[in-house]
Amino acid sequence: MSKLKMGVIGVGGIALDRHIPAYAGMIDTVELTALQDINKERAEEAAKNYDIPYVFEDYYDLFKKVDAVTICTPNKFHSEIAIAALEAGVHVLVEKPMAITSAECEAMIAAAEKNDRLLSIAYHYRYTPEAKLAKEAINNGEIGDPLVTRVQAMRRRKVPGWGVFTNKDLQGGGSLIDFGCHLLDLALWLLDDPQPVEVIGRTYDNLSKTPGQVNDWGAFDHETFNVDDHVTSYITFDNGMSLQFECSWAANIKEDFTALSISGVNGGLDVYPFQLYQTRYGTVWNSQPNLKEDKLSPGFYQAKNFVDSCLGNDELIVKPEQAQKVTALMEAIYKSSETSSSVKLT
Ligand SMILES: NC(=O)c1ccc[n+]([C@@H]2O[C@H](COP(=O)([O-])OP(=O)(O)OC[C@H]3O[C@@H](n4cnc5c(N)ncnc54)[C@H](O)[C@@H]3O)[C@@H](O)[C@H]2O)c1
Repeated sequence: MSKLKMGVIGVGGIALDRHIPAYAGMIDTVELTALQDINKERAEEAAKNYDIPYVFEDYYDLFKKVDAVTICTPNKFHSEIAIAALEAGVHVLVEKPMAITSAECEAMIAAAEKNDRLLSIAYHYRYTPEAKLAKEAINNGEIGDPLVTRVQAMRRRKVPGWGVFTNKDLQGGGSLIDFGCHLLDLALWLLDDPQPVEVIGRTYDNLSKTPGQVNDWGAFDHETFNVDDHVTSYITFDNGMSLQFECSWAANIKEDFTALSISGVNGGLDVYPFQLYQTRYGTVWNSQPNLKEDKLSPGFYQAKNFVDSCLGNDELIVKPEQAQKVTALMEAIYKSSETSSSVKLT
């Protein structure tokens, strides 16, 4: 079987922590062929460490050498680089969020369709063992029709003090577009892609803009801080479901936690940790699995799904239309907060 020639664009934190090691380990299916970064030394160092033959300054040169590419640049460049890759006939896995605006996502989807190439997005929470179990349980009818979903992606005093995360121009936002998007994506996937109809959102930056903050993840400049550090939202769907959402980098709460619970007609579940709530034998009934530790990471499964799909041996788990919906929701949350009114979606 011929191997997939893979390139990576943007050789920073997430490329080095997750994507490059995952592809480097897939020796039967992937040939890690080329890297590109505006910081050429960074790409050259990684190429040396992983024995990758090509480093380019221009991503158009990289496209000539690969079948597929993973884009790990700041959010601002996701759309333009993805479209350029797709137009060059290269499959694309782009880091989350798919792009900053829904219009950018639409252009990416159009380029994928026009050039008959695959386009996927790195929403890796879907590959956690708990999420996979929740999906199966819902599909098997364990909770009946979902009604009310609660999502919380919460950190206590952990604004990322490094990298691009607090740069609004490069990222488009803060805690919502960085952290909250994962849980929004996971919720929509578990709920089988419902169509949102109305969104109320409120964003806050008060904590991080206040001088002298205690922050456990490094230093940032409170004077130039211009992204959200705490966000709440209430979303309704065309089938009557509703979703209560909250995310924060910096909340004044007891401790960090990630929660996603779905209450359905016949039962409910928590994803992290996974628990099922039902009624049996005339009483309420809780069950939880004895989940074995999986030595392979969600990042590995994400890479494998993309590679196998490009090779024609699997189907993408994260579809671009789904990721576009997440971006559309985030846009609506930001807009609702700015305008202090609800936003209707069609
Ligand atoms: N899935 C996750 O959990 C997760 C975690 C962290 C970051 N991310 C996402 O990954 C992306 C990158 O984040 P990061 O933390 O790795 O950032 P980073 O700043 O550590 O790395 C980004 C790299 O991109 C390079 N770059 C910038 N503009 C470029 C351009 N136009 N062309 C080529 N290279 C360019 C930079 O030189 C840098 O090496 C962002 O979209 C972020 O949201 C996802």
